[in-house]
Amino acid sequence: MVKILITNKNILTSVFQAPGRINIIGEHTDYNEGLVLPTNLDLYTKVTANARDDDIIQVTSSNFGQTESFSINQIAPNNPPTWINYIQGVVAELRENNIPITGADLVVSSDIPIGAGLSSSASLELAIAHALLGIGKNKVAAQKLAQICQNAETKYAGVNCGIMDQHSVACGRKGQAMLLDCRTMESKYVEIPANLSLIVIDSGVTHNLPDGEYNSRTDECRAAVKLLQATYPAIQALRDAPIKLIDQEKDQLGIILYSRARHVVTEIERTVAAFNALIKKDIRLLGSLISASHASLRDDFDVSCPEIDQLVQIADSCSGVYGTRMIGAGFGGCALSIAEASVTKKIVDQIRENYSKVLESEPWIHVLKPATPAMEVRHL
Ligand code: GLA
Repeated sequence: MVKILITNKNILTSVFQAPGRINIIGEHTDYNEGLVLPTNLDLYTKVTANARDDDIIQVTSSNFGQTESFSINQIAPNNPPTWINYIQGVVAELRENNIPITGADLVVSSDIPIGAGLSSSASLELAIAHALLGIGKNKVAAQKLAQICQNAETKYAGVNCGIMDQHSVACGRKGQAMLLDCRTMESKYVEIPANLSLIVIDSGVTHNLPDGEYNSRTDECRAAVKLLQATYPAIQALRDAPIKLIDQEKDQLGIILYSRARHVVTEIERTVAAFNALIKKDIRLLGSLISASHASLRDDFDVSCPEIDQLVQIADSCSGVYGTRMIGAGFGGCALSIAEASVTKKIVDQIRENYSKVLESEPWIHVLKPATPAMEVRHL
């Protein structure tokens, strides 16, 4: 989070920003108390904030070209949720945690493609939270703030999301990936090696989490745990079930729950292996883990879509790409390629040319650069 102070006569305007995130591997494992390996994205949500002396929060979204306002003492979320719900949620949850919030005029703009698996929502939540804390001169520890924002999204936007996105945006470190244990909330960091290029490509298919199948996947995982618990009471989350046991209980689980569970437990193993591959700077091994992750998300977790599968094939056919997978919740959004840094430009040109034929327009492609961590404060 970067805070820039702009003084205009006697009015103090503050600008706050929070990055997006890409998850290198560990997809749909966070709400199963598993491990994830995200890194921050060098694209940001920016919030310009002025304090008001009443209880009104007025927010202008530059991306949507809309202005909404509400009283902090009377929050009535929209149903179905819209972008303002995320902001109402952050305000309500900060207050729920006894953090005093005053009225504010906020202008929000974001470079992060929305609904593309890059955590535009968590970035918005954290940028807003920092703006409200900043103008009120309040402080909350990064990890706590991530939880507050997760609750905001769950309760006010109706998404039963895990903690990965908010935690990564709040606690990420520049140029590093974070291995986060979503049960203990312990994290370890590893440098992104210089020979590794992380190429993010938008499939052009947008997802809408509340309307999508995300919540049904969280329900299915819970149902699998419940069935396993009947025989193995020590299993509190899918994270606790060894793959052998899941194979053994295949008939009891039925094909859908069996496949969901198999994805989760094998993905957790791949995530740990990917962290170790990064430590060894073994980007070929990382690439093969990424490819296995995509196959599992497509076949077992059933959250890919034909456009993403085609994009993955196109990217993987480029020389210097070691593996590609869908990232984020799925059902569209972006793919991530693990590539040899020295040939990045050639790869990007080739993907652009070949995927343009599928999309019938130029795809959005972004090569990741180290992103400013969310908790760093600077006065410019
Ligand atoms: C969304 C959620 C995360 C996580 C991913 C899938 O981004 O917000 O908590 O579950 O999907 O890995």
